[in-house]
Amino acid sequence: MAVKAIEWKNGHVVMLDQRLLPAKEVRRVCKDYTEVARAIRDMVIRGAPAIGVAAAMGIALGALKAKEKSFDRDIERIFHVLGKTRPTAVNLFWAMARMRKVYIAKRVLGVEAVRRFLKEEALKIYEEDISANRQLGRFGAQVLGACSNILTHCNAGALATAGYGTALGVIRAMKESGKTIHVWVDETRPFLQGSRLTAWELKKEEIPLTVVTDNMVGYLMDQGKVDAVVVGCDRIAANGDVANKIGTYVVAVLAQRHKVPFYVAGPTSSIDLNCPSGAEIPIEQRDGREISHFFGRPLAPRGVRAFNPAFDVTPHELIAAIITEKGVIRPPFSHNVRIHVAH
Ligand code: MRU
Repeated sequence: MAVKAIEWKNGHVVMLDQRLLPAKEVRRVCKDYTEVARAIRDMVIRGAPAIGVAAAMGIALGALKAKEKSFDRDIERIFHVLGKTRPTAVNLFWAMARMRKVYIAKRVLGVEAVRRFLKEEALKIYEEDISANRQLGRFGAQVLGACSNILTHCNAGALATAGYGTALGVIRAMKESGKTIHVWVDETRPFLQGSRLTAWELKKEEIPLTVVTDNMVGYLMDQGKVDAVVVGCDRIAANGDVANKIGTYVVAVLAQRHKVPFYVAGPTSSIDLNCPSGAEIPIEQRDGREISHFFGRPLAPRGVRAFNPAFDVTPHELIAAIITEKGVIRPPFSHNVRIHVAH
């Protein structure tokens, strides 16, 4: 696979530092779980499924290093620290719940066995994410069949997952099936996941793209230049409301106004039936410096306040379909999301 955001290598967790892309391709080696937690918090690795994989690998790494004498106490600490990294993407908590299940089931077999099973489970989560993305990509390619100019927001690609991507998985699958496509990549202020990361990934695979600023989306749609929108997701509530990167909501409103179908692509691990609606999804608030500064350079007068919610919620009414590895969820979402998860 061309792009690897994260891998388990020689007993360590290795990540591509996404803060430095596209200028530099630097790999960071995490030798203990605290380094993994810091990498998630500081956006070395980001994207909902990728941070789920990172948390799982962090737990496996922590278990390897935890002392036999204080093993159970150390494990609790590891779960606690990783659980405090980023609040919005449910994949992090989903992956941690899977790891905890293994820990509880295998604890009686002794510390060595637990370490082995936790590592195996983390690698399984990694592999399963890649196949889920390939599968949802195929479903998405069928849904978007006739579209050739596709707009995406943020980065929901190989960098944001174990590989292949969700929204970009759909785009990759369209290309693989021989379709001629062109992708509008909005830059995604303030962290620029679109212009830095999505453009980098698409260029690597020679998928035609054009970068635009976020505030050009309305103009593009008005000019009839967008056939469909496809984005990833950080958490899908039981009624189909979707939390995704800040600015997604604006794109969805514009899409409705211009009758452009708005699709969400994500694995079922992004669905949280414990959230009845988007109102219950916790929205991460990040440091205002990500807005007032750009890589250390001031963009606003010194001392001004900046507000930096990292995600917003797109109400289900604005979504044409949600594409997962199990198939396609169509409205009415308040009924169909639960049915989809159950089957
Ligand atoms: O803050 P980020 O970069 O982690 O936000 C990422 C997104 O919002 C993605 O669209 C989402 O996680 C889906 S990734 C397949």
